[in-house]
Amino acid sequence: MNAVVEIENLTKDYEVGFWRKRRVRALDGLSLQVEGGEIFGFLGANGAGKTTTLKLLMRLIYPTAGRARILGRDINDVAMHARIGYLPENPYFYDYLTARELLNYCAELFGYSGRERALRTEELLSRVHLDRKSWDKQLRKYSKGMLQRVGLAQALVNDPEIVFLDEPMSGLDPIGRREVRDLIAGLKLKGTTVFMCSHILSDIEVLCDRVAILSSGRLAETGRLEELRERAGDGRRIEIMVAGTDAEKLSSVFPALEGAQITSTASGARIEVSDERDVDAALSALRQAGGRLISVQPVRQSLEELFVREVSE
Ligand SMILES: Nc1ncnc2c1ncn2[C@@H]1O[C@H](COP(=O)(O)OP(=O)(O)OP(=O)(O)O)[C@@H](O)[C@H]1O
Ligand SMILES: [Mg+2]
Repeated sequence: MNAVVEIENLTKDYEVGFWRKRRVRALDGLSLQVEGGEIFGFLGANGAGKTTTLKLLMRLIYPTAGRARILGRDINDVAMHARIGYLPENPYFYDYLTARELLNYCAELFGYSGRERALRTEELLSRVHLDRKSWDKQLRKYSKGMLQRVGLAQALVNDPEIVFLDEPMSGLDPIGRREVRDLIAGLKLKGTTVFMCSHILSDIEVLCDRVAILSSGRLAETGRLEELRERAGDGRRIEIMVAGTDAEKLSSVFPALEGAQITSTASGARIEVSDERDVDAALSALRQAGGRLISVQPVRQSLEELFVREVSE
């Protein structure tokens, strides 16, 4: 595997205050690598430093310390920037252009010929599922979700080898999210590397090969989702769903097993044990209480739970 993004000790202090200037550290010694061809999820709560990281990589702001390479080139290498794409967090475009004009203009910046630009524009606007009827409308008449789609199209205009997406699902309705999700998965199939920030964890969960979790400007965790799950002890607890009895009856015949939790449900009870070995004890308690077994399965935390715990710790 070859790393296409290599970030080394990247640090950014912002200067805030007017009379009395002081520095706030938005990003603190971030080091990480993204491999070619993967979809990499960059997670973190509001203000964690995700956008700051992307802006540093795009050279929109300058680092206080550290450095980074993209596609093996230093981020100050201008030629490399022609091979990557970027969707900013709140894309802002010249309002009086239409989507078609904007895309055509972007393609022109990359040096495509007139015919190629027209083709590319139509192909991209269809790919982001922007309704054909809106292609020749001015962007000032666009909704948030429509602008987001134009932003995505713009980020892909040069067939980038790697694309950086800052909250690509932001402002999209459920169908739009699904479409963009499929589009991102499609990019990977074509071999494009995707680096995306998001807090819509369900999207990250289905799309990303690896994730990094940023917490107050520092890297809290990085790895494959399964690894993060394992490290957090996820899946070790087991949930037993039962019917024909209730939590109270079960508790009386199932004397407080260490770490077991019993709660009532609409049709019976839910028993959660902390170890596989406790399942037998729970089942015999169930028989004594005269209940029926419905299901036994490991408790999987959602990425959300892992993430929230990571951040609060
Ligand atoms: N131009 C700026 N001047 C001063 N501080 C800034 C500036 N931009 C960002 N910050 C601060 O840097 C920190 C990180 O902000 P950043 O926008 O990178 O977070 P984020 O992870 O993208 O959050 P969100 O999920 O809300 O988009 C925040 O504390 C923010 O207040
Ligand atoms: Mg942000």
